[in-house]
Amino acid sequence: MSQARYEQRGDIAVITMENPPVNGLGYELRKGIMEGLRRAFADVSVKAVVLTGAGKAFSGGADIREFNSPKVNAEPNLHTVIRAIEAAAKPVVAAIHSVAMGGGLELALGCHFRVAAPGAQIALPEVKLGLLPGGGGTQRLPRLIGLEPALNMIVSGNPVKSEKFKGTKLFDEIVEGDLIDGAVAFARKALAENRGLPKVRDLKVQHPDAQAFLQFARNTVTAMSRNYPAPKNCLEAVAASLLPFDEGMARERLLFLELMESPESRALRHVFFGERAASKIPDVPEDTPLREIKSAAVIGAGTMGGGIAMNFANAGIPVTVLEVKQEALDKGLAIIRRNYENTAKKGRLTAEDVEKRTGLIRGTMAYEDLKDADIVVEAVFEDMAVKEAVFRKLDEVMKPGAILASNTSTLDVDKIAMFTKRPQDVIGTHFFSPANVMRLLEIVRGAKTGKDVLATTMKLAGRIRKLGVVSGVCDGFIGNRMINQYSRQAGYMLEEGATPQQVDRAIERMGFAMGPFRMADLAGNDVGWFIRKRHYAEHPDAKFPKFADKICELGRFGQKTGAGYYKYEAGKRDAIPDPLIEEMLVKYRAELGITPRKLSDDEIVHRLMFALVNEGAKILEEGIAMRASDIDMIYLTGYGFPAYRGGPMLYADMVGLYNVMNRLEDFAAQARKTPNGDPDAWTPAPLLAKLAAAGKTFNG
Ligand SMILES: NC(=O)c1ccc[n+]([C@@H]2O[C@H](COP(=O)([O-])OP(=O)(O)OC[C@H]3O[C@@H](n4cnc5c(N)ncnc54)[C@H](O)[C@@H]3O)[C@@H](O)[C@H]2O)c1
Repeated sequence: MSQARYEQRGDIAVITMENPPVNGLGYELRKGIMEGLRRAFADVSVKAVVLTGAGKAFSGGADIREFNSPKVNAEPNLHTVIRAIEAAAKPVVAAIHSVAMGGGLELALGCHFRVAAPGAQIALPEVKLGLLPGGGGTQRLPRLIGLEPALNMIVSGNPVKSEKFKGTKLFDEIVEGDLIDGAVAFARKALAENRGLPKVRDLKVQHPDAQAFLQFARNTVTAMSRNYPAPKNCLEAVAASLLPFDEGMARERLLFLELMESPESRALRHVFFGERAASKIPDVPEDTPLREIKSAAVIGAGTMGGGIAMNFANAGIPVTVLEVKQEALDKGLAIIRRNYENTAKKGRLTAEDVEKRTGLIRGTMAYEDLKDADIVVEAVFEDMAVKEAVFRKLDEVMKPGAILASNTSTLDVDKIAMFTKRPQDVIGTHFFSPANVMRLLEIVRGAKTGKDVLATTMKLAGRIRKLGVVSGVCDGFIGNRMINQYSRQAGYMLEEGATPQQVDRAIERMGFAMGPFRMADLAGNDVGWFIRKRHYAEHPDAKFPKFADKICELGRFGQKTGAGYYKYEAGKRDAIPDPLIEEMLVKYRAELGITPRKLSDDEIVHRLMFALVNEGAKILEEGIAMRASDIDMIYLTGYGFPAYRGGPMLYADMVGLYNVMNRLEDFAAQARKTPNGDPDAWTPAPLLAKLAAAGKTFNG
């Protein structure tokens, strides 16, 4: 069936795009529009055409389901459809409502006239995928709304409401009543007034001093988009709108193709799809019935508990926070209030919001007060005995059907579930610090977690504006299990001759928000120490670089103690290299019998990256992660991995797995030559070896 419905209202043909959810301009729809146009042009009783969209949009642009398939460019492509409209002998009126974005807007720009309902979102968001509008948008939009507003829209990708374009040539009319009636009436009026077949391409871009403005814009855009080529290409394409139309179109094409090939766009498209893929769980159907979440509870008002409670309050969900001691409760609630007030001081919340949100958070020391909550998140000390006591109590008091979640970062969620008589209701919700800020929520699926519990928690993640990513149960889950290998390599590199600042600088230049040592100082070195001590006991034969323990033995826990791998001035967060650390390293290397060598930035970056990748491959093979892109999304949203590199697994794909294998071998050889080295860390994960041998990638 055609995806473009055709009907006639007297002498006006109405073509309605019907490709839910947003009338993405896929192959079938493009074909349908062309058929409709040809029918209308051939029918002598038709004098004009109205083009509109059914349902929730005029058109949201390209059909993302066709990305990465040959259909995306199959004829009739978008250019062909636009050319057919521009060349028509009968006027075509775009009737826009709700959403006209990307290719959808470009289609409308190709029409002779445009009318719009108020409140429609108008955007060319391609820059967000590392691209530029390649269907003539960079040439036509400046001709209609002016160079500067068009540049702002195209470089930012942000939507603008239709009524904001009043007074520009973008819309011939804003229709207040029924849009199609208004569009049909407008078409008749245009015919009656002999307004002909105006083409946007025939207009000239207006600007009093275009070249000076463009030079200013170049400076700004270059400064703001360091690692992203798309904003710069967007700008150059818009600048080309000053040229004759066909020359400008040719330039747009070239600049578009350049971006299509760029690793940054590949990464951003990977992020776009990866975020959508994360919510799909193969054995949990999309129509799994959900449990209702109208209220929540949090156990523990410490660092994490407070932030978690804020997430619920921010989403309008009332939350009760339980602590064992009044003092801890008061302190926790005071920190929450201060956090909100600080946000208000920055102008990002009103005083009223602060009261509303704090009003949704109630403190208690009585479990009785939690019993009716639909979900409870435990965030007490990372100690199995404490967790056990809490979960036994929750099992006793919580109403049937309540979800019992743990924020544990390392403990076995299956074991925790067995402290209750309802393991199907138990799940891990691993928030990242600061919990009210970080977007990642690792959702840990226990062996017995109910499918409805998993589906409800995933949905809840969206409600509290997190990206939920599913992990199986293992030590550290996906993110921390991988970061553990990364931190070990960072530690080994200190032993071999690097300084903390050299390691941090190298990986930060590669794009990470913070290197491993600045990060450890921020998070608190005691946290890792505590976990390592458990590892030492559980795996007495395992090798570890021990410098991290040495600095903890001195009480250098990081920023909170004024010293860690760096030193810190009171009240400041700047990491200052500390000669004492370098002295300690010299001594420590001598103790190990290591002759220090100079490590290149390339070695530092790749040892850190491929430590992540090799562990990621194991996690994938074990089924702890459902897909490579889930691992990447975790790193992008929880670990400060740069979006323009797309995550560690995509990074490996782009380097090529064959090349990754070779580097692993080099690193193993180096480790064999180094006292205290750990060549086994570089034994390739079987999945990595298999994919490399077959010339494949992690991300398909
Ligand atoms: N801090 C992080 O970066 C981070 C990140 C992810 C997950 N986690 C996990 O979150 C949990 C909490 O960590 P945190 O950093 O917030 O610790 P925290 O020490 O800041 O807070 C723990 C709070 O729990 C309270 N508490 C202890 N026993 C309790 C009990 N029986 N009943 C009620 N309250 C009790 C304490 O008084 C304290 O306020 C741990 O499981 C930790 O592994 C921490």
